[in-house]
Amino acid sequence: GKARRISIDDFRHVPLDEVSSTNTEALARARAGDSGFLWITAERQTGGRGRRGREWVSERGNLYSSLLLVDFAPTEELSSLPLAVALAVHETIVSVMPPGSATVDIKWPNDVLIDRRKTSGILLEAERLQDGRMALVIGIGINIRARPDLAQYPVTSLADQGVSISPQELFARLYVAMADALSVWDRGRGIAEIVARWRRVACGIGEKITVNLPDRSISGIFSGIDDKGLLLLDSAAGTLSIAAGDVFFG
Ligand code: BTN
Repeated sequence: GKARRISIDDFRHVPLDEVSSTNTEALARARAGDSGFLWITAERQTGGRGRRGREWVSERGNLYSSLLLVDFAPTEELSSLPLAVALAVHETIVSVMPPGSATVDIKWPNDVLIDRRKTSGILLEAERLQDGRMALVIGIGINIRARPDLAQYPVTSLADQGVSISPQELFARLYVAMADALSVWDRGRGIAEIVARWRRVACGIGEKITVNLPDRSISGIFSGIDDKGLLLLDSAAGTLSIAAGDVFFG
């Protein structure tokens, strides 16, 4: 594919106070003709959205941001984008944690965990615009303030870990880490480099997991990810490659 040059100078930041969802706001701007590399942040969301139609409770004090990319890279090169985004969020969180205080790793495909508790969430949404351009929105939420556990997962926050930082300061770090993560597409190494980096910080390889798919759950040993970033599960039915699902350990 065509190399897409990206540098931090391409990003434009639009800080907002309150929106329904930064993802919705970024998609609306794409429909209105925005050409991308736009970062929307908000202090608070009234209709924050999580994966699988879940709500993402969005009080003040946490990080809520969405990056809009338009016609960024060919679709076949984008399968590793969730992993690249998770690496940037991982690097951001590691950079503010006291060294050696806790284990910060990534639960497939893109939840950053601190001592196995969910600390961030990523919601990627794509939309073909009327003029044929492809809009991609990368929504990132990071827990800074103490938050209650979710129904599905134990949760933590930077405050719970003794880290005191403002959403603005954390965003400044995320901004730099994302420019770095996205620039792998410039260097033409794309997926291979991302998969290699992701494997080094993966949580639970070699352990028994259960993967919830839309229609069923399968258990087995999490044996790693393949060269495209798919999850490999050694199950009673053989080794399965899984493109999307919720992972539970044990
Ligand atoms: C998940 O379910 O883990 C994904 C959560 C994604 C939350 C972020 S917060 C900023 C952006 N705007 C939203 O409405 N959702 C994402």
